[in-house]
Amino acid sequence: MPSRESRPVVGPVDIQSLQRDGRGVGRLGARTVVVSQAYPGDSVITRVDVETKSVFQGRVKRVVSAAETRRPSPCAHADWCTGCPYLGADREAEIAWKRGFVVEEARRQAIDLPGDWTFETPTAPWEWRHFAKQIFGLRDGHLVLGSYVQGTHVVVDNARCPVLVPGLQVLLERVVAAARHVGARPDNVGAPGLLHVLARSSRADGRCQLVVATRDPSGADALAIFEKVVPLDPELVSGWVLIQEQPSNNLLEGRALHVHGFRDLTDTLLDVECRIGPTSFFQANPACAETMFRDAVERAGSGRSALDLYSGVGILAVGLAKRFERVTAVEAVEEAAALIRKNAAKAGVAVDAVHADVETALDVLSDRGPFDVVVADPPRKGLGARGTQVVTRLAPSRLVLLSCDLAAWGKDARTLIDSGFKLGRFTVYDAFPRTAHVEVSSVFERA
Ligand SMILES: C[S@@+](CC[C@H](N)C(=O)[O-])C[C@H]1O[C@@H](n2cnc3c(N)ncnc32)[C@H](O)[C@@H]1O
Repeated sequence: MPSRESRPVVGPVDIQSLQRDGRGVGRLGARTVVVSQAYPGDSVITRVDVETKSVFQGRVKRVVSAAETRRPSPCAHADWCTGCPYLGADREAEIAWKRGFVVEEARRQAIDLPGDWTFETPTAPWEWRHFAKQIFGLRDGHLVLGSYVQGTHVVVDNARCPVLVPGLQVLLERVVAAARHVGARPDNVGAPGLLHVLARSSRADGRCQLVVATRDPSGADALAIFEKVVPLDPELVSGWVLIQEQPSNNLLEGRALHVHGFRDLTDTLLDVECRIGPTSFFQANPACAETMFRDAVERAGSGRSALDLYSGVGILAVGLAKRFERVTAVEAVEEAAALIRKNAAKAGVAVDAVHADVETALDVLSDRGPFDVVVADPPRKGLGARGTQVVTRLAPSRLVLLSCDLAAWGKDARTLIDSGFKLGRFTVYDAFPRTAHVEVSSVFERA
């Protein structure tokens, strides 16, 4: 990988506006320049990562003159990591920009937001992230663990990432040190090797789970890392090696080998003590999720029967089971679907957990209906046409839709409104401070 200093440089570029992904936009001759961590009013020299006929895309090399909203960044990697585009911006400005993008999305989809909608910021902007996905790479010949530079396959390290909880900052540092010590190599440096790491820290007790993924079929490199890290980190209570022999965009795919401690991590959300497996989804910002889920369960109401779609390990389903006589939960990952039953039993309630893709589960769900309410919390791509069809066919009078992608929410909301729903309560949560992402919580009622 070329070192960052060897990249071409352009500018100064006057940043005139901000894209939805948090990057600043300016012009240089006929080209658009898109720059991470640059804000309207800045003039910046830009280090170019991607160049096309019409676009330069890159990172700030030097601020020539600073926007009023620019603040000193507390991150040691601010000039090369593109993970948090708002790192160098005033927090109030970040919130105002994100609010603006919500209004813009509603306008784009011709959706009337209720007059009392709010943008909530329940957590501090630092040390909120309890889940890390980091990639192994080589930087100037040295093994590093970090993230891709936006739009490229270049990996840059972000050790001590300030949005991560301290326990994970320390754990990841130990993983890198161990990998270097045992001479492990990233994948494709001569041989199949280390791919990525998934690390989670329990908000309830600070204990951690670590998954090290490798393309090496023997898993020897990943096992050697565990041998070094386990004696140093008493908080590391669950360890897995994931053998991913075939390239995959799904970081969780592969053969999972349990190599240390407990199989699952335990955390508590909404008073539900839940087990989380190595390939299960769990909220990266549990403190914010708790506020959002409490509202979502309340907005679902109470009654005879509720359906929770895209359930993960069942936090919402268990919350709903305290208000509804019968709850059905649907989840595509087998391990997570099995944990829904266990987590419900631990909470003293029953949930009917269905292991299926929502899009193909219409028949099996129709047999379990009718439902008073459907709660859906789909992955980033949203419900999409087929998911929306399932929701509308099951015909609840009320749908609570959570979404971690504003554009996906906009499309789904438009389809729902066109199918006869009316948007009711609407709240946006700043669940991922300093990044460009938000969580949307919305209620749709049959018009
Ligand atoms: C945003 S998470 C929500 C999980 C849960 N509400 C929570 O917060 O713990 C989305 C979940 O949907 C699951 N999933 C993804 N695609 C799915 C599909 N087509 N059908 C069912 N579940 C799916 C993922 O495995 C993940 O657990």
